[in-house]
Amino acid sequence: MGDRTLFPNASNKETLAYCLHQMKPDRRAFAGSCTAIVLGTLANAVAAPLIFASLLGRIAGMGPHGDDWGSFTPLIVAYAFVLVAATVFGRIGGWLNWGATLRSFGRAITNGYDHLIGLSHAWHTDRPSGEVIATLETSTWAFVELIDAAVWGVLRISVTTLGAIVVLGVVAWPVALVMAALVAVFVGVLHHRMARVVAAEKEFSDSHSRATGVIADTIANLTTVRSQAAEDREMVHVDRLVGDSLQADYRARRVFTATRIQMESAMAFFNWAAVAVGILLALHHVAAAGVVYLILFYATFVGTSLEESFEFIRLMSRAIGRCAKFAGIAATQPDIVDVAGAPELEVPHGRVDFRQLRFAYRAGAPLFEGLDLRIEPGEHVGLVGPSGSGKTTLTKLLLRFADRDGGLIAIDGQDISLVTQHSLRRHIAYVPQDPQMLHRTIAENICYGLERPGAVDMDLVRTVGRAAYVDEFVERLPEGYDTVVGERGLKLSGGQRQRVAIAQAMAKGAKVLVLDEATSALDSESESLVQEALWHLMEGTTALVVAHRLATIAKLDRIVVMDHGQVVEQGTHAELLSLGGAGVYGRLWAHQSGGFLAA
Ligand SMILES: Nc1ncnc2c1ncn2[C@@H]1O[C@H](COP(=O)(O)OP(=O)(O)OP(=O)(O)O)[C@@H](O)[C@H]1O
Ligand SMILES: [Mg+2]
Repeated sequence: MGDRTLFPNASNKETLAYCLHQMKPDRRAFAGSCTAIVLGTLANAVAAPLIFASLLGRIAGMGPHGDDWGSFTPLIVAYAFVLVAATVFGRIGGWLNWGATLRSFGRAITNGYDHLIGLSHAWHTDRPSGEVIATLETSTWAFVELIDAAVWGVLRISVTTLGAIVVLGVVAWPVALVMAALVAVFVGVLHHRMARVVAAEKEFSDSHSRATGVIADTIANLTTVRSQAAEDREMVHVDRLVGDSLQADYRARRVFTATRIQMESAMAFFNWAAVAVGILLALHHVAAAGVVYLILFYATFVGTSLEESFEFIRLMSRAIGRCAKFAGIAATQPDIVDVAGAPELEVPHGRVDFRQLRFAYRAGAPLFEGLDLRIEPGEHVGLVGPSGSGKTTLTKLLLRFADRDGGLIAIDGQDISLVTQHSLRRHIAYVPQDPQMLHRTIAENICYGLERPGAVDMDLVRTVGRAAYVDEFVERLPEGYDTVVGERGLKLSGGQRQRVAIAQAMAKGAKVLVLDEATSALDSESESLVQEALWHLMEGTTALVVAHRLATIAKLDRIVVMDHGQVVEQGTHAELLSLGGAGVYGRLWAHQSGGFLAA
């Protein structure tokens, strides 16, 4: 089921760096929220117990009929301030943290999407899209979980614990020492054990996104699954992957529970020891009533907080594990990038040049080794050749869906690898072999190549729709051009999809036109109609037309015959036919049956 090294997990450090990077633009809000939460926690966990201790000290020092209310007033007032401060700081911290987390969540999604969309065609072709999307989804929720657990759990508890140790250090240092030892053991053991929790959670995330990937893949290709009666097989497959993810989570939970049981026993002992030391100090009159109160209070308070922190640390470890897969993807550098300061492509004429082109999908198996092809401005070139000879690949290299390994591809003398990809693709109208549509209306799909996002120009839609014979079937649809085409355009027939794609290319009005089997799904009658439209489309453009059906390209200015990544013959239809049976084209023409090329 695919090569798992396609998704290398990031290390914990890299994952944290990735998360911090998403939070960075809101660092002021996070710093403000953390400061407020720290102040609120200090008010609750340090100031309030100190006031209580002071109150107790006074009560213990009072005579049996003491009624010196005045001496208590400052403490009562101070306590009121502390209560208000704890609430105010807590709410300010909460509000700031909520906003910053929400914005970071949004940023994690948009940055993730930006990164995915910037990765090459080859990267996406190699990886199941459902799994990639599930990985982004899992990681963004885990990222929010990580922030919440870190801020509301670990930060708050760390402040409480440190505050307790500092206060006890001042009033009863032996107890502070016991407490510090407890914390050191706690942190040490957790640090050691949590690595296993993180590892198990990485497995969870991997199996979970793979299961989602299989679900997405099989739902998108339901026709194949159904026609092969493979529903049960796929269900078992998904079941196994979901089972794997649950097992991984159980494993994490087991490690965690075992650690928790061990740690709770150790903590109970330390707690007991702190109380015992406190009582000993009291018995030896080293500690006053207020100090004994602080010792007892902090021994239980810190013990409870540390216990509580187990859950937060588990959540953090889980979140880091679940973010690691996408952090790994985010660390992948896009392999097709614009060079620094790349200019825009200018296409005044439309000359296309492939010079000494070299390209291989796999090392050691070159497809093109020094291919030369020049298309003059306004020239219409037909590209034919057996299946797998490299026709589609040539069009993809021209669009920079992949980068050549050597040689040059230039448009009007400009090396396409040195101009922005955006400007390159803006100047090329491309109708692929299997046009894909977005799940939007026919009109929106036709206008998709326009530089005005979201704009639908209905006059233009109708004009190109008529020219590409789209209106011929759209007229019969109740919602006309507002009909939504379905997932990848599957609510349209293959031929209808091709006509919409041709209309889209017409609306774009680019100088260079690339058609890859653009009419292969049309019946002969529709094709001859659309062919008319294509002649109009080609006027004033430089066109590269890939076709199996030779009749489609017979009228073009030049026909280039390709085989095994090489140009083996070129000329006009008549010139190539004049070579007779000695020429590849002549043989192909002779083998045409019913207008189709025999495979
Ligand atoms: N993404 C890819 N990864 C690896 N190999 C690929 C990839 N795409 C195409 N190939 C291989 O490259 C060769 C050329 O493929 P290409 O799609 O360019 O052929 P084609 O001439 O367009 O064929 P057809 O007439 O069937 O459309 C084929 O052997 C194909 O298997
Ligand atoms: Mg092809």
